[in-house]
Amino acid sequence: MATERIERTAQLRERVWAAKRRGLRVGCVPTMGALHAAHTAMFDRARAACDLLVATIFVNPLQFDRQDDLRSYPRDIQADLIVCDRHGVDLAFAPAAAEMYPRPPVITAQIEGLADGLCGASRPGHFCGVATVVLKLLNCVQPDIAYFGEKDYQQLVIVRRLVEDACLPVEIASVETVREPDGLALSSRNVLLSRAEREAAPAMFGALQRAQEAVQSGQREAERVVALARQVLERQPLLRLDYLEVVDLDTLEPVRRIDGPVRIAIAAFAGSTRLIDNIHAAPLKAR
Ligand code: PAJ
Repeated sequence: MATERIERTAQLRERVWAAKRRGLRVGCVPTMGALHAAHTAMFDRARAACDLLVATIFVNPLQFDRQDDLRSYPRDIQADLIVCDRHGVDLAFAPAAAEMYPRPPVITAQIEGLADGLCGASRPGHFCGVATVVLKLLNCVQPDIAYFGEKDYQQLVIVRRLVEDACLPVEIASVETVREPDGLALSSRNVLLSRAEREAAPAMFGALQRAQEAVQSGQREAERVVALARQVLERQPLLRLDYLEVVDLDTLEPVRRIDGPVRIAIAAFAGSTRLIDNIHAAPLKAR
């Protein structure tokens, strides 16, 4: 069956409830469109585990802290629908901004602590916008299971807490980061890179791998791990580091001494395009 494009929440609910009445398992993959192979990996994973697969395609204005970033965010709904169709998406929920925000929201999802560091530090309000729209989308779709990528690790941790704190009846599944052959994490923003920036960008993953290696071979001082990773990045003058940090898996608090598994996260600008990535690392005996 071809993907059905849905713009209204009421119509979406009708479809989902009909499926649920038949006892079908509903999966949801929230996206902002400009679909690439990481999104389709999520569709494929969800398709295999669910009976009704809903993709949401919505460029959420609330999570953009810069107007130029919102304006330049790639959009191509026709191409996205073709991708959805090829990957077995049943419903593509692509609401207009006025459907999601008929008026400016007075109730938003405020986040304690988890949004203060990493991307939250340089993108004020971003995660409040993300959590607010994810809460709305999960309420619109009411899936049994929703999929989020590890590429946006801070977002994944925040969504898990959102679901826990708001008692949402949905399971959150995480999907491993999908990469280009040279290591660059797939992102809708990669199309905005110039050729030289694109060539420099894999150094971000190189830096993370260097850090992971250091942790695995027994380096316990986070500061030292970060210094080694920075050396890799500094070989690429086109990349401007925003942050490179070793953090706790769950609280995202900076870790100083690495005694167990951690997440190492990086953000850098290539021109005006901001890229992020992260990796799991653990001292060998603690893995
Ligand atoms: P978007 O950037 O379109 O990403 C949609 C989902 O795909 C997110 O869960 C993201 O983590 C995942 N994803 C993107 N690139 C990935 C990669 N290379 N490997 C694995 N997963 C990847 O993230 C958003 O949209 C929005 O913030 C959203 C959650 C939809 C709320 O607006």
